[in-house]
Amino acid sequence: MDKLYIKGGTRLEGEVRASGAKNSALKMLAASLLADGPVIIENVPHLRDITTMIEILGSLGVEVVIDEKMSIEIHANTIKSYTATYDLVKTMRASFLVLGPLLAHFGQAVVSLPGGCAIGPRPVDQHLRGLEALGAKIEMSEGYVRASVAGRLQATKFRFDFSTVGGTEHIMMAATLAEGQTVLENCAREPEITDLAECLNAMGADIVGQGTDTITINGVASLQGCKRRVIADRVEAATFLIAAAATGGRVKVKEACAEHLEIVLDKLTEAGAEITVTEDGIELDMKGRRPKAVSLVTAPYPAFPTDLQAQMMVMNSIAEGAANVKETIFENRFMHVHEINRMGANIRLEENNTLAIVEGVESLQAAPVMANDLRASISLVIAGMVAQGDTTVERIYHIDRGYEQVEEKLRSLGANIERIQSR
Ligand code: UD1
Repeated sequence: MDKLYIKGGTRLEGEVRASGAKNSALKMLAASLLADGPVIIENVPHLRDITTMIEILGSLGVEVVIDEKMSIEIHANTIKSYTATYDLVKTMRASFLVLGPLLAHFGQAVVSLPGGCAIGPRPVDQHLRGLEALGAKIEMSEGYVRASVAGRLQATKFRFDFSTVGGTEHIMMAATLAEGQTVLENCAREPEITDLAECLNAMGADIVGQGTDTITINGVASLQGCKRRVIADRVEAATFLIAAAATGGRVKVKEACAEHLEIVLDKLTEAGAEITVTEDGIELDMKGRRPKAVSLVTAPYPAFPTDLQAQMMVMNSIAEGAANVKETIFENRFMHVHEINRMGANIRLEENNTLAIVEGVESLQAAPVMANDLRASISLVIAGMVAQGDTTVERIYHIDRGYEQVEEKLRSLGANIERIQSR
């Protein structure tokens, strides 16, 4: 397995471009199954999760054409199978989202229950309840969900029990081809959901209210092809900004959208960073200063994203002062804490491992570390860049799921980082 080798102690300086948002692109790829014509998605990041979704589409017999700029063209009407198998779905939770589009367009789908990051149990009860509310017949056997509907799905009024990003996207996609007007309440409001809704509207869907907690979908009989460009990845962009803050550096992330990162930019300002938003991106300047500790609570958008909690934890670990970091979205999302403590941080977990109390220390020391989820892994890379000495980060296949060309991009900012390939 590949490792990253990092020589710590360099300030990040320079410019880097944000890639397209993984969490938008994945859903648009699933949504392409709804269309009768070719769907072209541009600015798709070159990531393992994207490859997994393309493999799933390929396994259904769907024709997928990818050009050298990662513009992907999907022809759903070439479909030959309605089954997404365990070996593909288990590696990534988002692959479960092919279920609704297959069902809505072709009346049937057999999809394995998902796997994904090791961050809590992550059930799909809201997805299944939503599809049932739309009239789907759902059976579970041998780890598979078997869904069918005679004719079209039927519009419904459905309220999610809590905010779920994937659940909102899944039911919104399925409802586009339902008969009548569907109203979804207590929806998640993440920018990727809005991006997906706009992609569906470009295919001929009639969706309003995306970005609020009530989404209304007027069902249409069919959807056509379209061409869409994925928004910039707010999590990747913010990861570079946090890394710059933690190393006392100055970094501009081109194409990053400040509107999607309001609370994160506020927290970085509180940490002592100077933030400048320009037409083409966001610049952070720490002016060589040590960050100040900032407390935060993760919660659904527009609150602080759980996907940036681990990165902020590293910044806090070397900050001046103490901070409380509360995780409210996922159970078991503090696995990086023990690794950062092994590098000399002073973090203790309380409240059944949902609250981290971080006492900032002057510096971290290098150590061999490993992580078992995507965002935890990148936080250890930031810790390695901050630390004195040489750090190796193992199991970086997690990073490759969500960060495009991570070592090239960090090297372009001055980091001393190399991939050691295993044979
Ligand atoms: C998406 C993002 C992920 C991010 C998360 C929260 C993608 C591919 N992934 O994940 O990066 O961390 O949003 O912002 O877009 N839950 C249930 N039952 C359900 C659905 C969810 O109990 O049917 C729970 C989950 O276990 C979790 C919480 O609800 O504790 C939020 O999950 P959800 O918002 O659905 O996250 P994902 O869509 O999986």
